[in-house]
Amino acid sequence: MKKQEIVLTGDRPTGPLHLGHLVGSLQNRVKLQDLYKQYVMIADVQAMTDNFENPAKVRENVMEVMLDYLAVGIDPNKTDFFIQSMIPEIAELTVFFLNLVTVSRLMRNPTVKTEIKARGFEESIPAGFLMYPVSQAADITIVKGTLIPVGEDQIPVIEQTNEIIRSFNRLYQVNVFPEAQPLISRVARLMGIDGQAKMSKSLSNAIFLSDSPDVLKKRVMSMYTDQNHIRVEDPGQIEGNVVFTYLDAFDPDTIKVAEFKRHYQRGGLGDVKIKQYLFDVLNQLLTPIREKRAEYAQERGEVMKILLQGTDRVRQVAAQTMSEVRTSLKLNY
Ligand code: TRP
Repeated sequence: MKKQEIVLTGDRPTGPLHLGHLVGSLQNRVKLQDLYKQYVMIADVQAMTDNFENPAKVRENVMEVMLDYLAVGIDPNKTDFFIQSMIPEIAELTVFFLNLVTVSRLMRNPTVKTEIKARGFEESIPAGFLMYPVSQAADITIVKGTLIPVGEDQIPVIEQTNEIIRSFNRLYQVNVFPEAQPLISRVARLMGIDGQAKMSKSLSNAIFLSDSPDVLKKRVMSMYTDQNHIRVEDPGQIEGNVVFTYLDAFDPDTIKVAEFKRHYQRGGLGDVKIKQYLFDVLNQLLTPIREKRAEYAQERGEVMKILLQGTDRVRQVAAQTMSEVRTSLKLNY
């Protein structure tokens, strides 16, 4: 019999979603919603932990991210979307979980360590940022999530979630929370258009799902290829070459891609020509997404309604979980 998983996943609303999200998580969600109960959370509270000086940015991007979700085919009839800040039970559960975690353990969490560095927080770490993995444990456990699709970089956060779950169940002699299993997508991460390891809005090397054809063309034409491939007739390198990496990731015609690779390595295939081909591939992929997104963007009121309806359903699940938590903690007055 098929195991009944509960899928919980989400994104920080700090910008529109890009191709890295598409291959890393969005395509997975479109499949998972047919197999399991799926919750997709817009993590606005978590976004605040490193954007507390700019709440307007977080607010705007809740809608942008939601438009991206709907445009790629995450279906509100199959998936419950919700806004993290509208589930106060998550904040409540976080407070109880904080007793089960030490500051030094949080400081040793590899995800937190990397992100502290990336944000220049070394000198003075906001407490809210340091403890975000605990809040993330509450995101997951409030719906009793068992399958957590995340990027590779988030694995330590899921490990820490399971430590918290085990502590809770052991200390209070209950079995309230099932353990959570990370689900890492086949294409773990997509390199940026500049050839850096990761596509990211903050590195300005992303192609957004909402990019117009003109912008897409500009970004493809600016892609990093092979610095030594100067004349068309020179042999070119495909390793670390963004254009070929993307063709591998996005062109279903693998035979044609293999031919292009041989031609490029041999010499005689120019960057502009292969970039033009990649543009066509990406534009074909993004056109239906862009069109659907534009339609939803005309109906923002309806889109918000979908989000609030999902949130209502999650609120009920969260209340049930918190009732079990309060009983476990002898706080059921
Ligand atoms: N931390 C995740 C990210 O940056 C987003 C997130 C918040 C999340 N809460 C979650 C992902 C719970 C999965 C489960 O991508």
